[in-house]
Amino acid sequence: MTRVLVTGGAGYIGSHTALALLRAGHDVLSFDNYANSSPEALRRVTVLAGRSPEIVEGDIRDRAALDAVFFRFRPDAVIHFAGLKAVGESVERPLAYYRTNVTGTQEVLETMQTHDCRQIVFSSSATVYGEARYLPFDEDHPLAPTSPYGRTKLFVEDIIRDWVHARRGTSAVMLRYFNPVGADMSGQIGEDPNGIPNNLLPYLARVAAGRLERLGIFGNDYDTRDGTGERDFIHVSDLADAHLAALDFAAHQIGATAINVGTGQGATVLEMLHAFETAAGRQIAYQFLPRRPGDVARSLAAVDRAARLLNWRATRDVADMCVSTWNWQSRNPDGYGT
Ligand code: NAD
Ligand code: UFG
Repeated sequence: MTRVLVTGGAGYIGSHTALALLRAGHDVLSFDNYANSSPEALRRVTVLAGRSPEIVEGDIRDRAALDAVFFRFRPDAVIHFAGLKAVGESVERPLAYYRTNVTGTQEVLETMQTHDCRQIVFSSSATVYGEARYLPFDEDHPLAPTSPYGRTKLFVEDIIRDWVHARRGTSAVMLRYFNPVGADMSGQIGEDPNGIPNNLLPYLARVAAGRLERLGIFGNDYDTRDGTGERDFIHVSDLADAHLAALDFAAHQIGATAINVGTGQGATVLEMLHAFETAAGRQIAYQFLPRRPGDVARSLAAVDRAARLLNWRATRDVADMCVSTWNWQSRNPDGYGT
């Protein structure tokens, strides 16, 4: 059993990981300011797990608040999800992204150092690779993110690498997520974006539910099987399991290691739309629109490092991703506001 401080524990990936941690018998403290989430997610996690995480409302930019939590909870490890994640918004408000994602992480690391906490699992992103020079992306692919958001992830990876190098006995796993989608099979927790969703699966779910008229597909002239963008979608419950494996790895290994988290299998936007039609049992209207600026044609993960170092592989497929998203959407038409 490990005592795990989870920053951003009420968020989409954080809540699924908190559930997996509690089910595996770990003690969890969620530290979240609810900038992009609801405390209701943690209430539901408590019901599903049959026991509660400790819950603290706080901001990672607030050193005194972090300090108080470390002093009281004495975590063995940190899983650091908290941050801002909208690529477009990061272009409009870069300083907010650097403040929360970079300075906020620095506060977390400094607090870890003060309290001699030596293990961290960090939420990085496939966006650190930028345009593909070759596919699938392996972890040694050059890093050239194309947005302020992506650069915050790269800078934090570098900061963590430097810190781990300088501090004997510390250990960090930087998980580079590909495209997290889906929801816990209970349909009780899931992704609950504010406003009109930017991402494909939440958008598809709302069209299927009749809350949006049709999906706009950004580009049908890419060099892919059907001309639409191809991504490596990864089920959020598989992703949660990868964090458990990363925690175990960090407990037995020193150094900083970047590891992709994907399935190694790509699906195009049209393939995803058809899979969602099957899951929801209804047709989904769509139209082709121009390419979205900044999008790449294809993104695919090399997954052998995760298999080798973490002994982890994704087990859920595209059908599971769509069925669970639809289950969550139809049970909670207004997300946590229901
Ligand atoms: P999310 O927005 O649902 O979760 C982030 C959580 O952090 C939220 O609960 C939010 O309230 C909290 N938070 C934000 N700023 C905070 C602050 N200053 N102090 C304390 N808490 C704060 O996002 P998610 O999809 O669960 O993503 C989690 C992490 O994974 C993020 O770091 C994100 O960049 C990264 N990531 C996500 C994706 C994705 O597609 N979802 C892909 C790659 C990487
Ligand atoms: N798409 C549409 N219509 C939509 C939404 C998306 O056609 O309404 C397409 C996109 O053009 C893309 C695919 O669906 O081809 C996936 O798009 P998402 O927005 O769901 O995901 P991205 O691959 O753009 O973004 C994800 C994460 C980001 C991360 C980025 C780069 O959400 O956090 O991968 O790795 F930065």
